[in-house]
Amino acid sequence: MGGTDIGGSGLSVLSATSIAAELALVTDHWTPRVVGQVNDQYIKVAKLLGELVWHAHEHEDEMFLVVSGDLLIQLEGDREVRLGPGEFFVVPRGVRHNPVAESEVEIVLIETVTTAHTGDVTVERTVPLDRQIGSFAPEG
Ligand code: NI
Repeated sequence: MGGTDIGGSGLSVLSATSIAAELALVTDHWTPRVVGQVNDQYIKVAKLLGELVWHAHEHEDEMFLVVSGDLLIQLEGDREVRLGPGEFFVVPRGVRHNPVAESEVEIVLIETVTTAHTGDVTVERTVPLDRQIGSFAPEG
């Protein structure tokens, strides 16, 4: 883990990760970027605009945390949840869902490392995991 030795004191100051700075690097909508890992979960940032596609993740729960904007998540069974800044929702595994952003939404996602972007379906905007990971490498 990168750190700065302060005046030879042996004290290392580690760098925090800025969600805002990571989001600023995102140029395309619906293109999650992996920015961290906690055990077997990736932390991702993404910008959303429009709607993704109805899909489900058979084996993985998926957490959406809204940073800015208002996100609608449509859920199977004529259910939906609306999230504002600072709010999160966990879509349980196996539940079909479709995120909809009427205007731009910035989010943090927490997902098991095996989670496919659009679950059991593949569409033009599906982003494979290796592209989500990009230059991210776990430190330590
Ligand atoms: Ni999903």
